[in-house]
Formats: sequence, C-alpha cells, structure tokens
Amino acid sequence: MQNPQDVQRHVDALRELCPQAAPRMALVLGTGLGTLADAMEDAVRIPYASLPGFPRSTTDSHAGCFLLGSLSGVPVICQQGRCHLYEGYSPRDVCAGVRVMRGLGAAGLIITNAAGALNPRFDAGDLMLVTDHINATGRSPLTGRNCEAWGPRFPDMSAPYDADFQRLALRKAAELGIRLERGVYLCTPGPQLETPAETRFYRAAGADAVGMSTVLEVIAARHMGMRVLGLSCLTNKNLPDCMAEATLEDIIASANSAADALGRLIRAVLPDM
Ligand code: HPA
Repeated sequence: MQNPQDVQRHVDALRELCPQAAPRMALVLGTGLGTLADAMEDAVRIPYASLPGFPRSTTDSHAGCFLLGSLSGVPVICQQGRCHLYEGYSPRDVCAGVRVMRGLGAAGLIITNAAGALNPRFDAGDLMLVTDHINATGRSPLTGRNCEAWGPRFPDMSAPYDADFQRLALRKAAELGIRLERGVYLCTPGPQLETPAETRFYRAAGADAVGMSTVLEVIAARHMGMRVLGLSCLTNKNLPDCMAEATLEDIIASANSAADALGRLIRAVLPDM
C-alpha cells in the first residue's frame, strides 16, 4: 500500500544502512538507462529487497536498488529500476521510491524514461526534454486520504516541469552538441503497446511521446514540492500510418545507445540545479 508510515519505515531503514547520506537531488533511471549509475562516486548500493515491504520491479530490464553517492560532485540518491502499474502495482507503490528519496531530503528530481516518439519530426535515439505531461492512466497516487505532511489535497499542476531546469538542460545540451527535442509525454497503463488508432488519438491530444512511467511519480514529486526535470529517451517511432513492430529488445538496445548522451547531459546539469 505504501502509506506514510511505510514510507517513513523505508526512509529510516535507508538512514540506518547509509548514515552519511544527505542527498540533494534524486534520480530515477528508466529502461536501459541504468549505466549512469556506474559514473557515481562512492556509491552505496541498497537493493530494494533489503527494505522489507518496498515494491520491487518484476521486469528483467530494471535492476532494483537505490544508489547513494555523488555525481558531478552533487550528493544524489538514485533509483536504478522502478515498478510500474502494468506489473500490478498500485499508484502509491509506483511512487514509493520518489516519496522515500524526498523523505531523505532530496529537493529536486531528475526523472528519465524510454518512450515511443509520436511527433513525426522526432527520431529513434533522440532525447526529449519533457515540457508537460498527460496522465492517460486514469489513476493517481493521491487517491485516498491526503497526507498533509507530504503536500496539499489539491496540488497545482500548472507547471509540473521546472522552467529553470528546462532552460538549464537546453543550454547544456547545446553546449555539449546533444540534440534535445522538447515535448509532451503521455503515460499509458501498458503493458501492451499502442494500436494505430490509439497512436493517432494520443497525437491528436497533443502528445509528442508515449510511455508507461514517469507521470504518476511526477505527480507525487510535485505534491511534495520537489522541482522536476524530465528526460525521455525516444527508443522507437510510433506513427499511426506506418506502424512498425516494437520489441522490448529493440527498445532496450535503443535506450542503451542513447544512454551515453543522456548520462553526459545529466552530469552537466546537476551542479547547477
Ligand atoms: N509505447 C509505449 N511505451 C514505450 C514505447 C512505445 O512506443 N517505447 C518505449 N516505451
């Protein structure tokens, strides 16, 4: 369920396992993007399995652990692997990691994902700065009794992705020569990929990319007042009039090949966040 007591228990357990941890920023690494963790300095690895009751990813492509350490000299906590609605988890389970990282003191969140490109101008292998999102899951991590210590009953969503973080990411991407598209990310419950008609519908609704994560976690992060930077790795083109079969292997291979640019971008923005 992951109510406030459960989250506090995980925070206390992490503090006991890693007393020196004082993360300033939180990171969630999506499908195929876990290698950024290798660049962390003095990383302490805490498997989700060592936190009783913490939801664990059931997908092979997601390692399940927190990493505490520093990246570009900034103290960070990193979620290597996350769980999703399609695994049967509740929205509160899906957001447990973000809640815990905030509980440990992280003020900002960099959240990444693998997504299909709906905007015909975008290519597989591109990175996209998330400027806004559409929650097409029909679910919310805020359903049920509100925890006032976390945030308000009706949190504002007029600017879920921090404007300064967006400007910083665009500037650093330009300096590094990394192509960074901008767009709206739409989250479906999955796990099935989209039909041509669904793809057309999501594009008409204003989405530039589609995936199965991120949005619920961003709602939880904003509820707790965290500033958010969202980055998508576009792993495949998802165009209604020339649908190509997308396999998990292709998606992971594409995410892996964009991981290097994404890692360089994240390391460049962190010190200025
Ligand atoms: N659709 C949904 N989720 C995805 C896709 C897609 O095309 N690519 C990567 N994650």
